Amino acid sequence: MYDLLIRNATLLDSVNTDDTRDIAITDGMITEIRRNLPDEARTVVDARGCLVLPPFVDSHFHLDSVWTRVPNSSGTLKEGIDNWFTYKQTTLTVEDVYDRAKAYCEHAFSMGIQAIRSHVDVCDPQLRGAQALVQLKNDLSDTIDIQLVAFPQDGYFGSPEVADLLNKALDMGVDVVGGIPHFEQTMELGSRSIETLVKIAAERDLLVDMHCDESDDPNSRHVETLAYQTRLLGMQGRVNASHVTSMAIMDPYYVSRKLIPLMVGAELSVITNPLINIHLGGHFHHPKHRAMAPIRDLHGAGLTVACAQDCNEDPWYPLGNADMLEVAHMGAHIGHMMGLEQLKTMVEMVTSNPARIMNLEGYGLETGCRANLLMLDARDYVEALRTTPDRVMVVRDGVIRVDTRKPEDTSRAP
Ligand code: FE2
Repeated sequence: MYDLLIRNATLLDSVNTDDTRDIAITDGMITEIRRNLPDEARTVVDARGCLVLPPFVDSHFHLDSVWTRVPNSSGTLKEGIDNWFTYKQTTLTVEDVYDRAKAYCEHAFSMGIQAIRSHVDVCDPQLRGAQALVQLKNDLSDTIDIQLVAFPQDGYFGSPEVADLLNKALDMGVDVVGGIPHFEQTMELGSRSIETLVKIAAERDLLVDMHCDESDDPNSRHVETLAYQTRLLGMQGRVNASHVTSMAIMDPYYVSRKLIPLMVGAELSVITNPLINIHLGGHFHHPKHRAMAPIRDLHGAGLTVACAQDCNEDPWYPLGNADMLEVAHMGAHIGHMMGLEQLKTMVEMVTSNPARIMNLEGYGLETGCRANLLMLDARDYVEALRTTPDRVMVVRDGVIRVDTRKPEDTSRAP
């Protein structure tokens, strides 16, 4: 007797067909997936051909600034950082961060997100963001897996206190070492910050995720140093480069013949943020370029690539709705990823790929994985990307937590 049986689910391996499977769940785990499972379950749900996926994973976000709704009239990264600095000086409290982030996470869960990697600014002498988000990570562990990154927003060498603050944040329970080499005052300081921060991670046995080369400057090549230090310290497979937007305008020979092979050798992963990259990038060049890392080339080279949100209604971005399909949709456009297999890859870039980057245990829609999943009002992944449909059902550890089905509703896929 299963606890929950989901009948007639379309999975990610099926497109333009009526090929469906049944998913059996017991004790919070997926116990079987195949056609025509016996109808022996305490609860039976008929998916009626709707797409069922493992939950969305947002691997790059900023929970401390979410929903602050601070305006940014120039639409630049620089004004965003300046306005956030002012917000920290005038408005930020532990309660403010906690309440905004909690409300956002509850909304994100209803949108199908069950894991978030959030950077938290550790340049604040009181570490208010870290205090709030470490507490929230524990309070919401039954709902969302939150992983926190110690992020020196104003530069690791921006002030002498930051080194201590970053270590204190890690001691408090922040999980991952962050950085922002392109924002340090000199190229040399950027390189030194990478060297120091990867070493801290190696000594503490932690993962690394740096904002790296989020810049319209083709000479911003810190990812090269990140790859080098990763190999030097034996951190292969444990280091992520976020953004790397400068790759979009670097010399193609250098990117293809030197940089990407270096990244592959270091087993770096890459997280791009299509919505924010296309919005904040490309201000200083004519003709305007696609200010996102070349995800097709990076994926083609064998790197693990994810797409994430970065921001929702904060000093950097006035839009966003916790919709990872919107992220994948934008990524497919900017990244020239419109083939059938490539569209499937785009869905993987907001599900299994970021789960791998975050080392999420038991993630996946496979026998033996945690029964965390999501049902969408779409007949397959192409329709899901095309229509950004309603979230019909969200299951967490085998328990139906969101269910928007209506008995009389016949509009869903047959
Ligand atoms: Fe970010």
